[in-house]
Amino acid sequence: MFVVIGVSGGIAAYKAVQLVRLLVQHGHDVHVVPTGDALRFVGLPTWEAISRNPVTTSVHDDVPKVRHVALGQSADLVIVAPATANTLAKMAAGLADDLLGTTLLATTAPVVVAPAMHAEMWRHPATVANMAMLHERGVHVVGPDDGALTGGDRGPGRMSEPDAIVQAAYAVVGGGDLSGLRVVVSTGGTREPIDPVRFLGNRSSGKQGVAVAQAAAARGADVLLVTANVDSGVLAAASLPSSVRIETVTTTAQLQRAMTDAAPHHDVIVMAAAVADYRVAEVSDRKLTKEAAGAQERTLALVENPDILAGLVAARRDGQTIVGFAAETPGEGETLVARGRRKRARKGVDLLAVNEVGWSTGFESDDNAVIVIDAADDVVAEVRASKRAVADTLWDAVSAVRAPRR
Ligand code: CTP
Repeated sequence: MFVVIGVSGGIAAYKAVQLVRLLVQHGHDVHVVPTGDALRFVGLPTWEAISRNPVTTSVHDDVPKVRHVALGQSADLVIVAPATANTLAKMAAGLADDLLGTTLLATTAPVVVAPAMHAEMWRHPATVANMAMLHERGVHVVGPDDGALTGGDRGPGRMSEPDAIVQAAYAVVGGGDLSGLRVVVSTGGTREPIDPVRFLGNRSSGKQGVAVAQAAAARGADVLLVTANVDSGVLAAASLPSSVRIETVTTTAQLQRAMTDAAPHHDVIVMAAAVADYRVAEVSDRKLTKEAAGAQERTLALVENPDILAGLVAARRDGQTIVGFAAETPGEGETLVARGRRKRARKGVDLLAVNEVGWSTGFESDDNAVIVIDAADDVVAEVRASKRAVADTLWDAVSAVRAPRR
């Protein structure tokens, strides 16, 4: 979700840092718009570091991107926390003399305000009238709480706690369409050791599976991500919310164990990992040398690995949805769709995401082109986009498959 957090100039701005942090942890794309006064309480570097996005306060910043309205237009949700008496008055009057004002006028997204001020200001007829006006316009209000205020006085005026604000916001926009769903996603590529320094592996970067996990978390799912040899940079770039549990494996046997153990506890299983089909029959304890081979050719005996997906499908419990991935090279006398249909049937999965790969397509890139085939052999989605957008399309397909059950 694209969330804009407006911060106005009150001491409670320090608590808004935690609010931003929570929403980032939940996987949202958070953009902070502090007023000039807010920056006297909490500085710009803090907002940028915590939100992981650039922060500007002036309508004259980033003019080519029309920033003064762009943030409001892109927002799925706007939260103003703390909302001071002054900011609430400006909102009620529709004033737009700073970036927060223009953003609020440019948005059609739900707006949640978390007022914070002294009890006298909260009770003042001007504030009461402004709140009534905002309420009438559909602005949602959380708090203020009753309690100790900054000057040692007590009364209504404390900004609500960050998690209460998040909950209130989720109540307005929904906690995500996958909320309550437990999903396990495998990604990366398994490696089979040959000797202590070499392995058999594949080119899968794991980016698509990481994006699948990222999208699920952002949409409210409870996510376990099993990574097989995924570069730490790929995981860091995704900045997964801390709620995503990560388990690391190397070989096919380890991946099989992780997935088989996890499967009974999850509603949806996505096998995005590229599994090594074979492993070396006899792994050498010592590094293989040319000298010992004594010839220009060397033969490695391989044995077939278990089909993890087949095992998961065989053990599938009621209500569980299983999704496979297939990377196919076209031009073998069969279309991608036909190959996909055959593989989906062979694997017995509810959905198969098929992508075309070649020497220079499909791997390591940030984009992907995928078709999704369901159990009725229908192509339910066809998408060429960023791996994150592909992931969202896949979750839409999963939701559609599960719709009758929910
Ligand atoms: N898969 C698996 N275990 C294996 C091989 C594959 O679980 N030993 C899963 C992959 O994670 C993927 C799906 O099966 O979700 C399809 O992978 P693919 O390599 O295309 O399947 P194969 O059966 O190996 O088909 P092919 O012979 O065409 O390589």
